[in-house]
Amino acid sequence: MIRWVTPVRRAQQLGRYHLLDRIAFGGMAEIYRAKTFDANGTPHLVAVKRVLAHLAEDDDFIQMLVDEAKIASVLRHQSIARVYEFARAHGEYFIAMEHVDGKDMRTVLERCRAKKKPIPPEHAAYIGAEVGAALHAAHSAVDSRGRPLRIIHRDVSPSNIICSYAGEVKLCDFGIAKATLSRVTTKTGVIKGKVKYMSPEQALGRKLDHRSDVFSLGSCLYEMLTRIPPFTATNEMDLLIKVRDAKYRPVSELQPGIPPELEAITDKCLTRSRANRYQTAAEAEGDLRAFLRKFMPNYSRSHLGRFIRKMFAQEIERELRMLEEFVMTDSPSDDVGESLMVRDEDFEPPEVPFQPKPTSVSVAALPNDFSGDSNFTTMPKVDDHGRTIEDDDIHVQPTMILDGRGRHVIPDMPSSKQRTNASRRMPPPPPAAPPRKPTPKPIYDEDLHAAPTMIIDINRMRRGRR
Ligand SMILES: Nc1ncnc2c1ncn2[C@@H]1O[C@H](COP(=O)(O)OP(=O)(O)OP(=O)(O)O)[C@@H](O)[C@H]1O
Ligand SMILES: [Mg+2]
Repeated sequence: MIRWVTPVRRAQQLGRYHLLDRIAFGGMAEIYRAKTFDANGTPHLVAVKRVLAHLAEDDDFIQMLVDEAKIASVLRHQSIARVYEFARAHGEYFIAMEHVDGKDMRTVLERCRAKKKPIPPEHAAYIGAEVGAALHAAHSAVDSRGRPLRIIHRDVSPSNIICSYAGEVKLCDFGIAKATLSRVTTKTGVIKGKVKYMSPEQALGRKLDHRSDVFSLGSCLYEMLTRIPPFTATNEMDLLIKVRDAKYRPVSELQPGIPPELEAITDKCLTRSRANRYQTAAEAEGDLRAFLRKFMPNYSRSHLGRFIRKMFAQEIERELRMLEEFVMTDSPSDDVGESLMVRDEDFEPPEVPFQPKPTSVSVAALPNDFSGDSNFTTMPKVDDHGRTIEDDDIHVQPTMILDGRGRHVIPDMPSSKQRTNASRRMPPPPPAAPPRKPTPKPIYDEDLHAAPTMIIDINRMRRGRR
């Protein structure tokens, strides 16, 4: 008789986390699904972003990641993936964050392109509205004394938007983007793939405000509606120029039949002049929700959940099976690591929805079971009648040009006649957020957030102009 034996894999321990399968691998970090246990022994699924070894040697870079993770960790919004901690264990640095069980928009778009199927307008509008809400929450976040934190995402792009299988939309990598972008810059001179979603002011190395993220939201909306990004080119210089000029083919030309209201919203986000763009992400969100109410009044997030689950049915099966294959190490290390988001006079680490055990001893004895884990949301919760329960879970700069040696330079880009005085005016402050419950002490560092972020090696710039 043949018996099917589930393969067994041993989870690698990293501090209080046990790494399961690797979700992604990039130039900066590897992302894992990971398991941790609270004091009651209840398992929780989290995402662990482990910094690659060669970058861990760079103290300045690590400090920048710590600072950014601190900022990101104070954000509480249902459409923002939470950052739990930045820590070091076994000589490795990592960020533990909310695991979003779903697929990022880049993967969704790739699948749509392969199948030559569009993302229906209602999903694009809903995703855009959720991202708009997440952005507004961050843009208007204040510290415990009510001072604006002036957080700008800077990297609103399809890979940082994740749609969960339950239909939630979560924006990831708040704050972390800045450290990442500047590091990639110093390493290679160019941020590959990210220029496409930048705002014109970001591509020009100007000081950014929150409206830069509104433009990037427009680029994501455009790509969801047409399946191609608004700005494409065969080399970096041309791409920068296209982004700077903000000229793109009309949505309706590429995708006839898109409701004109939705196209108008996308165009307003993608306006070159900041003064003529939506002035806040909340305004864009409001228009997207108004469109959705008219276009599909009964729309709810379960529609998006069904759409994503149908598209990735096979992967979901595989991901679930994979979880079952892992067993915890039978000799867990007592090195639970060290949180680098230490309490200091300016910062108090935020509470997380669960408290990982202070020690990992005895986890091996616990069953490999996520039942009752609120973070484990592969499938939406349903009521006794099979209806999706729409619960609200509790989760919630200018641009710097660096040359090859890491010096800040402002590119001498060809001047643009279209530049208006209005675009140089200071932005209106985003509306103040409602009073918050106990908030951490101020952590905002003006220099950190006012520092520009970009992109291109000055020598390349000169070569490009010849
Ligand atoms: N918190 C998370 N939960 C689930 N999956 C995640 C999470 N964070 C990242 N991922 C997955 O890992 C992929 C890679 O993420 P990563 O942030 O390393 O790179 P990126 O998003 O492509 O680039 P960057 O964030 O630097 O702009 C994401 O596209 C997403 O699919
Ligand atoms: Mg990311």
